[in-house]
Amino acid sequence: MLRHLISHPAKFLFCCLIILSADLQAEYGDVILNKTADAMREAEVDDVVFPHWFHRIRFRCNVCHESLFKIEAGANEISMSTITEEKRQCGACHDGLVAWEPLECERCHSLEEGWSPGVIQHSVREDEKRNILLGKTGSIAKPYSKIMEIGSGWHPLALSKSGLPLDKYGLVDWAAAVRKKIVQPLWSLDPEVDISEHELRDTDILFISKGESMPDVIFPHEIHSYWLECKICHDTQGGPMFIDELGANNITMIGIGQGKWCARCHDKIGFPISDCVRCHNHPKGKPIDKNILVRPLKAPLPQTPATPIKQPAAQEPVDSDFF
Ligand code: HEC
Ligand code: HEC
Ligand code: HEC
Ligand code: HEC
Ligand code: HEC
Ligand code: HEC
Repeated sequence: MLRHLISHPAKFLFCCLIILSADLQAEYGDVILNKTADAMREAEVDDVVFPHWFHRIRFRCNVCHESLFKIEAGANEISMSTITEEKRQCGACHDGLVAWEPLECERCHSLEEGWSPGVIQHSVREDEKRNILLGKTGSIAKPYSKIMEIGSGWHPLALSKSGLPLDKYGLVDWAAAVRKKIVQPLWSLDPEVDISEHELRDTDILFISKGESMPDVIFPHEIHSYWLECKICHDTQGGPMFIDELGANNITMIGIGQGKWCARCHDKIGFPISDCVRCHNHPKGKPIDKNILVRPLKAPLPQTPATPIKQPAAQEPVDSDFF
């Protein structure tokens, strides 16, 4: 049923793509896939550009990570036979049912020399900037189901024009977009999966940042478990990103600056690391809400939130190169 509903508008939009001129530009979170560059050159196709944002509008990370793709660029062996014959990876959806078939090579093989990797913006007329839903007949129509709206029919012209809430860098604020229900990405492709059984963990964890001036960090489990399954962080393929025990991970800003820990996602798909205060969101000295779990420091401090938090005696030097 799900597949059926998604298929028809996809076919229609495919025609639009050909008719309307495409506006090509890179978007934050695009991933270039070119492990098989030699074979691609031989077949005279360009490298593949995978646009996260275009998929995030419709699907939470859980749909792809890690059942279809390990959560690491270059870690997956993708080929045209896994896509078209085995119907795995991109082929789990790009099979003509959930999304268009992989017939037009350049829709995926879209990286061209001389311009940034791009998302092909299409199917929206100049006078219609947002929330355009195209019905079976091709006229602008009400969606005939929620699935259709989320899965396929909703084509913002471009991120900047889409009406999605933006952060201070002009990137999509995905946390606000889901809180305000502007997008309601699917948790699973399987319509039998009961979303109410999906566990949202609501603990907030306070990381006391070493250093006088830097506000502390509150890690919110809730928004993360909205997008991601627990095991993506706690039982990641290739080893956990984080052990699921308070204070068990020696997370440092230097490590984050090197692409570890939080930067496994932030700076790549989640909001960028340069947005310091989005993580360092709890001023030092601000009373700590009793519901917040306070991480024990390396040099152990009393864990009762009521007592003022002291800084550790020995501070790790901060790598000034990073800032
Ligand atoms: C439609 C499928 C799909 C969805 C949905 C999706 N991803 Fe991905 N993701 C991919 C693919 C494909 C890659 C590239 C894998 C490769 O290079 O082998 C990738 C790569 C990544 C990487 C590795 C980037 C790097 O530079 O190492 C991260 C991190 C990531 N995704 C996070 C997310 C997060 C967070 C979400 C949800 C907000 C998400 N993804 C949603 C398909 C998806
Ligand atoms: C979970 C399902 C799913 C997976 C997996 C998936 N896609 Fe998609 N993809 C979609 C849907 C749905 C659309 C929107 C279809 C439409 O426009 O009708 C889409 C759209 C796109 C677009 C947008 C540009 C355009 O012309 O519409 C590109 C590019 C794309 N996919 C590439 C890929 C690549 C490459 C992979 C594998 C690395 C992949 N997708 C994996 C579901 C998926
Ligand atoms: C849904 C997106 C999509 C479409 C459409 C698509 N490809 Fe691919 N293709 C990929 C991805 C992803 C890879 C793996 C790239 C990598 O990791 O290096 C790939 C790899 C390839 C490779 C090298 C690996 C192999 O299987 O030999 C060739 C050749 C190739 N594609 C040809 C084509 C041709 C020709 C078409 C059009 C008939 C096409 N592709 C359409 C996504 C797509
Ligand atoms: C984005 C990654 C991420 C996701 C997704 C995630 N966690 Fe965590 N989790 C963390 C981090 C970071 C910590 C803190 C570890 C530390 O203090 O060193 C943590 C700590 C924990 C802890 C110990 C503190 C506490 O809250 O009691 C448990 C238990 C836990 N996680 C369970 C879960 C469960 C269950 C889910 C799914 C509903 C989940 N986590 C989803 C990153 C994540
Ligand atoms: C597996 C991927 C992943 C990891 C690892 C991860 N995050 Fe996130 N985080 C996300 C995604 C996805 C969002 C949703 C917003 C977005 O995409 O920018 C998010 C949102 C947040 C938000 C909410 C911002 C808001 O505006 O409400 C905070 C704060 C945050 N992350 C902090 C952290 C910290 C601190 C760590 C490390 C301890 C971390 N994250 C690790 C993926 C990740
Ligand atoms: C994705 C979330 C995130 C972002 C964005 C972020 N930080 Fe951090 N930062 C952390 C976490 C988690 C810690 C570890 C706290 C601890 O020591 O337990 C930390 C620690 C620190 C520390 C203390 C030294 C250390 O290694 O523990 C400093 C200083 C710091 N960050 C500065 C910055 C600056 C400056 C920026 C902006 C350029 C920034 N951070 C952006 C999550 C983040």
